[in-house]
Amino acid sequence: MTVEVWVEKYRPKKLEDLADQEEAKAKLRGFIKSKNLPNLLLAGPPGTGKTTSALILAREILGENRRDNFLELNASDARGIDVVRTIIKEFARAKPTGGAPFRILLLDEADAMTSDAQQALRRIMEMYADNCRFILIANYPSKIIEPIQSRTVMVKFNRLKPEVIVETLKKICTSENLKCDLKALQTIADLADGDLRRAINILQATAAAGDGRVDEKTVLFVMGMAHPEELKEILELAIKGSFNEAKNKLIDLFVDRGLSGPDVVKQLFKIIPKMETLNDDQKVALLNILGEVEYRIAQGADPVIQLTYFLAEASRIKKQRRFL
Ligand SMILES: Nc1ncnc2c1ncn2[C@@H]1O[C@H](COP(=O)(O)OP(=O)(O)O)[C@@H](O)[C@H]1O
Ligand SMILES: [Mg+2]
Repeated sequence: MTVEVWVEKYRPKKLEDLADQEEAKAKLRGFIKSKNLPNLLLAGPPGTGKTTSALILAREILGENRRDNFLELNASDARGIDVVRTIIKEFARAKPTGGAPFRILLLDEADAMTSDAQQALRRIMEMYADNCRFILIANYPSKIIEPIQSRTVMVKFNRLKPEVIVETLKKICTSENLKCDLKALQTIADLADGDLRRAINILQATAAAGDGRVDEKTVLFVMGMAHPEELKEILELAIKGSFNEAKNKLIDLFVDRGLSGPDVVKQLFKIIPKMETLNDDQKVALLNILGEVEYRIAQGADPVIQLTYFLAEASRIKKQRRFL
């Protein structure tokens, strides 16, 4: 059985189906209407609709002629200076066929190309401007050499808002006949950080692990994260002085779930400010200690030992007069 990949299954085929990105869509709609295209630089964070938009443009503008007049080179294709001088040049210099107005070359992750390769690309863009339009895609447009930047129209894509991500996930749940808790979808949106590809992948992994049910517990399990309530409980135990119990529960979490140290630290950073049993000074003190712990884990220190130290400090926090 082949498993269908949802990010592909639910890749929008029309501009109207692309969520949000209103500014980008307005610009692209204009190009489709006029059946004309400048060289483009689609810029923005991953999973926001750049490749999808480029594919839609090619389909809408070239129609049937797309087969013979469209070439996509993505990050897995070599795109060094040799490829620019051979494959890309060959494609760009050939006359469009079948009555197509021009050919379209899509270069994904163009910001990963060396500046030599980009210089060679720039010359080809100039030389064959009549035959071929270039759509470059970049996470970091500043890594595109200035002469290319000035020869392209930049279209910016933004991180998708959590609400937009939740709405998109809801539609997929309906279409896949999944029972989805709203809380679970919000947690996924939180974790995805504006990246819809990531969100859809988490949803699919959760649905697979949860046998068609998508709830928060399964999301966190799939992501190797602790439930916020569990961590809060551990922290509360430490604060009221039950250091050993807290420590044992933490170790259980790491062993049972294969949690990652940096993820737990990140979660604790969110939990501490919400602890009702601590006053502001105590919260600041704990956040400071957690900051040290985060640094040491990043430097390679053992996360369990570091977090145990953190719990030990937490269990003293109420006894320290200066924090009262
Ligand atoms: N704005 C969007 N609206 C709807 N789906 C999106 C959007 N952005 C990304 N996706 C989803 O994420 C997948 C990857 O999007 P893609 O356009 O390849 O992102 P990138 O910006 O990294 O090129 C798509 O197949 C689609 O399922
Ligand atoms: Mg892409």
